[in-house]
Amino acid sequence: MPTYVTTPIYYVNAQPHLGHAYTTIIADTYSRFRRLSGDSVRFQTGTDEHGEKIAEAAAKAGSNPREYVDAIAALFQQTWPLLNVQPDYVIRTTDADHIKTVQRILDQVHRQGDIYFSEYAGLYCRGCERFLTDKELVEGKCPDHLVEPEPITEQNYFFRMSKYQDWLIEHIKKNPEFITPERYRNEVLAFLDEPLEDLCISRPTSRLTWGIPLPFDNRFVTYVWFDALINYLTGIGYPDGPLFADYWPVAEHVIAKDILKPHAIYWPTMLKSMGLSPFKRLHVHGYWNVDSTKMSKSLGNVIRPRELVEEYGVDTVRYFLLREMSFGLDASFSYDAILARQNADLANDLGNLFSRSLTMIGKYADQHIPPLHSELLQKSDHEVQEALQTMATTYTAEMNAFRFHRALQAVWEVIGLLNRYIVTNAPWELAKDPEQHQRLQTVLALLGGSLWHIAVVLKPIMPETAAKMAQALGMEEALATAVLRPATPLAPLPAGRGLGEVPQLFPRMEKKKKAASKTARSNQAQAAHGTKKTGPEAQHTGLLSFAQFQALDLRVAQINAAQRVKKSERLLRLSVSAPEERTVVAGIAQSYSPEELIGKKVVLVANLQPAKLMGIVSEGMVLAAKEPLEDGSERLRLLFVDSVMSPGSKIS
Ligand code: MSP
Repeated sequence: MPTYVTTPIYYVNAQPHLGHAYTTIIADTYSRFRRLSGDSVRFQTGTDEHGEKIAEAAAKAGSNPREYVDAIAALFQQTWPLLNVQPDYVIRTTDADHIKTVQRILDQVHRQGDIYFSEYAGLYCRGCERFLTDKELVEGKCPDHLVEPEPITEQNYFFRMSKYQDWLIEHIKKNPEFITPERYRNEVLAFLDEPLEDLCISRPTSRLTWGIPLPFDNRFVTYVWFDALINYLTGIGYPDGPLFADYWPVAEHVIAKDILKPHAIYWPTMLKSMGLSPFKRLHVHGYWNVDSTKMSKSLGNVIRPRELVEEYGVDTVRYFLLREMSFGLDASFSYDAILARQNADLANDLGNLFSRSLTMIGKYADQHIPPLHSELLQKSDHEVQEALQTMATTYTAEMNAFRFHRALQAVWEVIGLLNRYIVTNAPWELAKDPEQHQRLQTVLALLGGSLWHIAVVLKPIMPETAAKMAQALGMEEALATAVLRPATPLAPLPAGRGLGEVPQLFPRMEKKKKAASKTARSNQAQAAHGTKKTGPEAQHTGLLSFAQFQALDLRVAQINAAQRVKKSERLLRLSVSAPEERTVVAGIAQSYSPEELIGKKVVLVANLQPAKLMGIVSEGMVLAAKEPLEDGSERLRLLFVDSVMSPGSKIS
C-alpha cells in the first residue's frame, strides 16, 4: 500500500526549534512505521518562503528576500539529518515547478468561476497574514498575535469558499478520521456552524511583491496560504505524474493546532474546487511549552534541536518527544523531564534489560542464542509470549492512530515484564544446577527473542538504538528487511546465532553542571540567610544526633491491598494499616508482584511529607534493601517484620 505523509512547510522567518522538530520527527516516525508495515512511503517536508512575514524578516536582516530565504531554508535542511529525519522530498515554495503549479491551479479555478474580483474592507492581522472576522477577535485583538488588526479597504481577488461549506460539513461528518484527534474535528465543525466567508487570495503588489504573481492579473501576488497549501500537490507531480496518481488518494497531513483552519477549511474547499478528492487524514497535535511557559524568542527560552541532540543524543530526543506528549494535547518541555526519561525509561528499564540479558547469554550460553525447549515452557514464559503478541497488536493500532505515547507504553509494559521475568527466573541460580541447563537455555532464548521483537517495534522511533540492539543479537540484516504484521508473528530468533559486541544503549546522565551549581548557589544563599533547615547534609560529621533519629516515625504496617499503578512499570499502590489505613506508592513493581504482598508486614516511614506519584498521593514510604544481582543489576527486597507484630507498633 502507498502512504503519503507531509509536515507543514515551515516559514523561513525563524530558525528551526523544538516545535518544528517535533512535527517532523512525528512524520518521520510514522513514515518509518508504515515502511516497517510493508507500505511504499513518500514523506515530504519543506519551507514556506513567500509572503509579508518573510519579506519583513529579510528587510530586518538587511538582506534581499532571495538570499535570506536560501540561508534559512538551508538551516532547516541541515537540521533533519541531525534528528535522523529522512524525507523523500524537501520542497521550497520558491521552486520553479511549485510556482508553475500554483499559477496553473489559479488559472483553472479562475476560469471555472470560483475566483472573483471585489472590494473588501476588513481587519487585517499581519501576523496571520489574513483578514480576521469580528468574532475571532478577543478584546479587539488577534488572539494569536495580541495586536489590534489594521482596518484595510482593498480591491482583491476572492475564492468562493462559501460555496463548498455544506459539502465540507458533510464530508467531515461522514469521515470520522478526516480530522483527528476528535477535539479538533469538533472545533472545525463548530466553526462551520456559522456561515463561511469567501477567502481573499491576493495581495496588491503596491503592498507586497514577494509572492507568486496572479497569472490573470500581474498587479497582484498570491496570498501566501493559497500558495503554500499547494505544496502538497507540487511535491508529488500534480497533475499527471505517476507519483501523484499513487500518493494523492492516501495523503496524510501532520500539523499543530495553530494552522488547523487553513488545513481543515481552506485546503479541502480548494481541492474540491479543483475537482480533486480531499486528503485522507489530518493529524493535529498540541503545542510544546517550555517549563509550562510559551516558547518564544522574547522570553529567551527557545529550544534548538541541535543543542538537544548534542546533549542527549538523537534517540533520547526522539523518544522523549513521542513519549512525553499525548498527541493532540499540549505538553511541557523541561530538562528535568528529558533527564528523567533518559535515566528511568531508557538507561534503567530498556538499557538494563538489554545489557543484563545479553551479558547472561554471553556468560551462560557461550555468546550464542540457545535453543528454546518448548516442552519446558512455564507460566511465566507463556506470559512473556502473550505479552509480545499483545504488544505487536497494540503498538500497531496506536501507531496507526498517531497515539505514539500509547504505542510506547505498550512496549515499556513488556520491558517491565521482562525485567521481572529475569528476577523471578534468576538465570544465575539455574546456571548453578546442571539439571536446569535446558530450563536456563529456554529462559535465555526467550529473553533474546523478546529483545529482537522490541528492537523491531522501536525501529521507527529510535532507529539507531534498534540497529545497535539488532547488531548485538546478530540480526542486523534481518532488521533492515523486517516487516511487522501483527497477524503473522515475527519469527523467533534462530538458535545458534552468535552475538555481536554488547554496546551500552543509554548512559545514565547527571543533571547538567550548570543546574547543579545553580542549586549550590541557592543553598549557600539560604544558609547565609539562616533559612536552610538543619539536616544531615548540614552536619559536617555526617552523623545524626539521637534527636534527629527520633524524629523519624517508623512503624510496622500491614499490606492489605496492592495493585500496579497504571502506565508505570515501577510503581505499586499499596493500602497499608499502621494501624490507620493509608495509601503508599512504592517503586517495587519490578521486584514483587502485587499478589505476593497481601498480608505481609513491612517497615513504614510514617511521618514523611505526602508526595504525589503518577497522580496518586503517597502517605509514607516502605523500607527496602537493594540486593545486587550477579548480572550487575539490583533487586529490591522489602524489610518484612515478624507476623506476630501488630500494625502500628513503633520501631525505635
Ligand atoms: N508556513 C506555515 C505552514 C504552511 S503548511 C502549508 C506555518 N509555518 S510555521 O513555521 O509557523 O510552522 C508551524 C508549525 O510548526 C506548527 O503547525 C507545528 O507543526 C510546528 N510548531 C511550531 N511551534 C510549535 C510548538 N511550540 N509546538 C509544537 N509544534 C509547533 O505555519
